[in-house]
Amino acid sequence: MTILGIETSCDETAAALISAKKNSQSVNLLSNVVASSLDMHAKTGGIIPEIAARQQIEYILPVIKSAMEQAQCRQEKIDAIAVTYGPGLIGSLLVGVETAKTLAYAWNKPLIPINHLIGHIYANFVGEKSKVEFPAIALIVSGGHTDLLLMKDHDDFHWLGGTRDDAAGEAFDKIGRLLGMPYPAGSMIEQVAKKGDPKRFRFPRPLIDSEDFDFSFSGLKTAVLREIQKIKVPDKQAISDIASGVQNAVIDVLAAKTLKAANQFNVKSILLGGGVAANQKLRSELEWKMENDKWKIKLFAPAKSLCTDNAAMITAAAFFNFKPVSWQNITADPELYFN
Ligand code: KG4
Ligand code: ZN
Repeated sequence: MTILGIETSCDETAAALISAKKNSQSVNLLSNVVASSLDMHAKTGGIIPEIAARQQIEYILPVIKSAMEQAQCRQEKIDAIAVTYGPGLIGSLLVGVETAKTLAYAWNKPLIPINHLIGHIYANFVGEKSKVEFPAIALIVSGGHTDLLLMKDHDDFHWLGGTRDDAAGEAFDKIGRLLGMPYPAGSMIEQVAKKGDPKRFRFPRPLIDSEDFDFSFSGLKTAVLREIQKIKVPDKQAISDIASGVQNAVIDVLAAKTLKAANQFNVKSILLGGGVAANQKLRSELEWKMENDKWKIKLFAPAKSLCTDNAAMITAAAFFNFKPVSWQNITADPELYFN
């Protein structure tokens, strides 16, 4: 089976083709094209929805064409089309959804709507990987979301908790801005943190011991702001020290809650997904803690290029949750959560 997937929920315009045999444990990536208006947004310090959507209208057809060419695939060989229908920016989602609907109608193909957040989890199922065993805990950490889910099987998700305010990536981005970094700041924080002294600043670890699986990261940026005000003009070393302190605070909370959930639900796998899952320190910290406690749980993290938004993950999600819907019944849903 060959599936074409389209993703336009935020500022990326992405298309990918995957192939997989019935009952496979993972999918083969045939092509994965991502065009971004990030350069433009780096200048403005964040995403301007109108600008993102206008760019996406220009990019969408060339991106799909390029994905088809790279996969050497013609429309007759495509068995289905997958598309992200939420959550995200309404203007951006509409570009992908309406394009996918038009193609499904014109080419007479089944159309599968995919939740972007579930898509992030399925980046773990792209390419030759060791088998994911269920039940699993999925930690979705992106610029807009921080969620913990219990995944008993494909298409059997239970939301355990999520952020009450800022998402983990959002905290990195806002703090990065305070430190004079371009948007999005997550990967730069990781880079500069390597030269930082992790002991110089001890930032709060909100909700780390709470009974639930919720997160709260907005207080972190206030704590950072207070330190910056004390220093007045932070030099390179102070920026690295703050970055290191912030990264450790975020990772400590993410790791503690993820391992608590894994323990409580006695799972066999932990799956990471979303832009923040590209963070090597987060991966190593979880691995280290699991090894230290001699846990028999396997940690899965996607290839770094598949952590941030892409269409390969959406296409993989469609293969494992193959539920076509008539094109007339698919509408972009910016507020979509877990259903
Ligand atoms: O999943 P994603 O591409 O977009 C959303 O769906 O939101 O995630 C983007 C987020 C940004 O907040 C960015 O700062 C963060 O992921 N990010 C990272 C790293 N790379 C990207 N955060 C920490 N460490 C990284 N290496
Ligand atoms: Zn995302």
